[in-house]
Amino acid sequence: MQTNNNCIVIFGASGDLTHRKLIPALYNLFKFGRLNKFSVLGVARSELNDETFREKMREALLETEETTPETLDAFCSHLYYQAVNTSDAADYAKLVPRLEELHTKYQTNGNTLYYMSTPPSLYGVIPECLAAHGLNEEKDGWKRIIVEKPFGYDEKTAQELDVQIHRFFEEHQIYRIDHYLGKETVQNLLVLRFSNGLFEPLWNRNYIDYVEITGAEAIGVEERGGYYDGSGAMRDMFQNHLLQVLAMVAMEPPAIINANSMRDEVAKVMHSLRPLTQDDVEHNLVLGQYTAAEIDGKEVKGYLQEKGVPANSRTETFMALRCEIENWRWAGVPFYVRTGKRLPARVTEIVIHFKTTPHPVFSQNAPENKLIIRIQPDEAISMRFGLKKPGAGFEAKEVSMDFRYADLADEQVLTAYERLLLDAMKGDATLFARTDAVHAAWKFVQPILDYKEAGGRVHEYEAGTWGPVAAEKLIAKSGRVWRKPSGKMKKKV
Ligand code: BG6
Repeated sequence: MQTNNNCIVIFGASGDLTHRKLIPALYNLFKFGRLNKFSVLGVARSELNDETFREKMREALLETEETTPETLDAFCSHLYYQAVNTSDAADYAKLVPRLEELHTKYQTNGNTLYYMSTPPSLYGVIPECLAAHGLNEEKDGWKRIIVEKPFGYDEKTAQELDVQIHRFFEEHQIYRIDHYLGKETVQNLLVLRFSNGLFEPLWNRNYIDYVEITGAEAIGVEERGGYYDGSGAMRDMFQNHLLQVLAMVAMEPPAIINANSMRDEVAKVMHSLRPLTQDDVEHNLVLGQYTAAEIDGKEVKGYLQEKGVPANSRTETFMALRCEIENWRWAGVPFYVRTGKRLPARVTEIVIHFKTTPHPVFSQNAPENKLIIRIQPDEAISMRFGLKKPGAGFEAKEVSMDFRYADLADEQVLTAYERLLLDAMKGDATLFARTDAVHAAWKFVQPILDYKEAGGRVHEYEAGTWGPVAAEKLIAKSGRVWRKPSGKMKKKV
């Protein structure tokens, strides 16, 4: 039987992700009684000890979580720390007695979840160093390893990384985390699609005109200029988060709900993306970079002025793409996907635009039927359709039927990291990216990488706007326009 009793070993324990996301997620799981027998062993180069590590984590939790001193003390008593030079295999010997001691103390039977929250350069090194001490072997309890994004830098490096990790961990032990899959509303998309007879017959090229997917952020690159500049919107958001969301919109129903069946369908979508041609990257892709502007009376830096960004950088902070899926369900239906930093709002949403009636009887400008699935913030689903404007005549106007997640106030919704950490402990890989899908996604975006490499155009856009004008023109070619959502899903967005 699967159990979530285990020791969680976090590599990169002094880093940002650990105190911003991982420790708060574990804290909440503990607070809500989802963790029973467990310990957390922080590992990094810094010379901390159990006490100083606990103190740091306590401070981080006090900043972000609602807590009581008792719960905080109880949780922190499960935290431990071991300083290790993470690129030196010999130094990992220190982990052996530490893990033995923790497994005995918490009766966790050798079950160990390793979390690589480190720079990607260590993703190949850590598994090898663990294996040097037999810490990957499953003879005494399961051993799993979570790999943070980015999984590779392109198709070739992703394959190399797989080869490196597979030398020491089998595929069933590897959990490639994409936190978008842990978002409740992304999963809800599957339930919406596959448990409602209402949508299923319409969910195809016969009734859907086009699909729009937006992952917009209002913030800039903040303190992460150094990392971001080597990544850009394409690698940071599109290749992983947004393609996973697209796969959820487009996939076929899985035969059963289990990790393999679900991930088979995701992989099929990735494989069915129509390969991008030279013409596509030149005409169906827009890359952009934000420039300085004043937003709400405040001066906002341009990307080139951000800390850690070279003054001549050509890294894109925005991208928009028109792509297609070559299968029976979607042939000929364009998917317009865009993402960017320093846009007017933080909003992730999917808009399914249905075809109009064959002939407009009541009004030349009959409203479009749309299904808006708001992933964040203010999670909601809104159906838009036309009804008669009160008064004389038969003029139609757009109205909406809305469901908001906040209305289910009693439900305790797990955050993405809470959900995914719990799933990894339970051995459920359904919401983790599988190697074949990751490779197919890299293969699909390779022409974009090549285009960038060859000096492809990066347009400027003013911070606080919806990206370069070229992105408007891209969608306007087919007579369509991007939605301009606000961050709030009010009665009418
Ligand atoms: C991360 C990216 O993976 O996702 C960040 O590295 C981005 O650049 C973040 O800001 C967005 O996540 P969320 O959950 O805030 O939409």
